[in-house]
Amino acid sequence: MSIVIVGHVDHGKSTIVGRLLVETGTLPEGKLEQVKESCERNSRPFEYAFLIDALKDERSQGITIDSARVFFKSQKRHYMINDAPGHIEFLKNMVTGASRSEAALIVIDAQEGIQENSLRHGYLLWMLGIKKIVVLVNKMDLVDYRQEVFDQISSQYSNFLVSIGVHPQSFIPVSGREGDNISSPSSRMPWFTRGTVLSALDEFEGEPPLTDQPFRMPVQDVYKFTLFGDNRRIVAGNITSGKVNVGDEVVFFPSGKHSIVKTIEGFHQPAQASVASGFATGLTLEEQLYIQRGELVARASQPSPKISTRLRVSLFWLGKAPMQLKNEYWLKLATKKVKVRVEAIHRIIDAGQDEGSIDPGQNKEFVEIKCNQVAECTLQLNKAIAFDVASEFGDTGRFVIVDHYEISGGGIILEDLPDADKDIRENVWLRNYKWIKSLISAEDRAEKYNQRATLVLITGQKGVGRKRIANLLEADLISSGKVVYFLGIGNVIHGIDADIKESDHEISRHEHIRRMAEVAHILLDAGLILIVTAVELNQADLEMIKSIVESSRIETIWVGDTKTTDLSVDLQVPGGEQSEISAFQIKSLLRDRGYIFAP
Ligand code: GTP
Ligand code: MG
Repeated sequence: MSIVIVGHVDHGKSTIVGRLLVETGTLPEGKLEQVKESCERNSRPFEYAFLIDALKDERSQGITIDSARVFFKSQKRHYMINDAPGHIEFLKNMVTGASRSEAALIVIDAQEGIQENSLRHGYLLWMLGIKKIVVLVNKMDLVDYRQEVFDQISSQYSNFLVSIGVHPQSFIPVSGREGDNISSPSSRMPWFTRGTVLSALDEFEGEPPLTDQPFRMPVQDVYKFTLFGDNRRIVAGNITSGKVNVGDEVVFFPSGKHSIVKTIEGFHQPAQASVASGFATGLTLEEQLYIQRGELVARASQPSPKISTRLRVSLFWLGKAPMQLKNEYWLKLATKKVKVRVEAIHRIIDAGQDEGSIDPGQNKEFVEIKCNQVAECTLQLNKAIAFDVASEFGDTGRFVIVDHYEISGGGIILEDLPDADKDIRENVWLRNYKWIKSLISAEDRAEKYNQRATLVLITGQKGVGRKRIANLLEADLISSGKVVYFLGIGNVIHGIDADIKESDHEISRHEHIRRMAEVAHILLDAGLILIVTAVELNQADLEMIKSIVESSRIETIWVGDTKTTDLSVDLQVPGGEQSEISAFQIKSLLRDRGYIFAP
């Protein structure tokens, strides 16, 4: 079992671990004496913490920097303890240590009492989903082993933990230095008879299997076998909860694609009839679906994951630079990575009070989350993702935030919030779920037409020559043998959209674009390169189109020197006289992005 030991700086974590090593007889013969002697030679007091074979730095400064990992064994089982650093600067190392652990010991100094990191670490353990917790009130020798001190700290800290929904298994008074209640009951605290550190560790129960929960498997990769006519495609990933059987109907989120599990392939194993959480596996399906890394697989007969671009989360920030409303970051959830911004910060939980309370900070306006702060906020993703709410599931409800290639924060999802395209997405999900499948796959078509389907959106101000460019591009692509179609939005407005009344401009514009996107979806499914022109598309329009048409297949082109909307474009080209150059530039873009091939 892997355990993390956390707590405020100098409260005695490493000392307790050192003691455990000695008392469980883990140290090699003579090691204890050797360390004691070397301390004597250098005329410095012996510390149990020195026994942890840690970094050089650590010895000279007497603080833990990196999480040291040590192993020992009780009568019952083997343990690995992550001795996490307590210093605030090394909070990130504490998080890393804790994220690898199943259970935790929190150490509080009896004399100093509850400190900032006692609270912060407690909070982080909760966020990391560690529910098995024992609190050690250490250095009882410094308070004359008095029960009142222990009771007072226990009740105060217990109140804090309960307020964040954590229920520790027990509180134990100990002295790491003197060896009280570490592996045998202390005669100096006869008033305490509820066990020792070692007995508490042995009482932790192993992780219950998550097989009763709904099935979840984030897609890691899709492998295609082409050798010897083998055209199997294996959808691979780690099962994070639940169980799946051959013959089950599985659904992919957020796409809504679905099929029946045909085989379950183990790595270096014969095929199985079912597989459960905790295993890496590969599924083959009855039908060939176009699936990408990052989708979440669930079973059709079980509760679905949620899909949204807006999340209410609890988040802790470890980045040196504060997390700011105006900046863009990456969010990683299981195998999915999307761009993210903080839409609003609702409260900052600053675990700075020594009474053990947390500052709710209500009615304040927050613009940033500083290093080591915990905040409740709303995140805005640039693409919808599939996830679960953290209270129900583990891994699919947790995320990390990456800033400049570095993990700078993490958190859990508390709630999925509605966004502008929620209804559309639900429609699209149903459309995909009900889609009548062809026997011809997207790859078959791509091979046949020698191109990958794409939607080229050409937009800009009125009168800049969008249509002229579209005409030239279409003609050029046709003459190089491509299957391409130019669809002016007018072609849709007066036909498919003939029923839309022009009474409310915004509503009708929204519906025109929605239908255009549905038409585009069909034409892309047919394998076409589709060119669409429209006046002054904005980012909200694009977001909607992206929730209807596969977003990785859309290229946006702005015609003209002045961009008049907030649309993020892939290419800006000149209009007017220079339309031939513009058409050529767009063609180059299509080549660069691999939709068409040279020449
Ligand atoms: P960081 O890793 O820096 O966060 O510190 P830590 O929590 O690992 O503390 P460490 O074990 O290094 O102990 C810090 C100091 O407290 C050392 O000088 C220890 O000797 C002392 N100490 C630890 N446990 C006890 C105890 O039970 N009683 C007394 N009197 N001192 C203790
Ligand atoms: Mg230490």
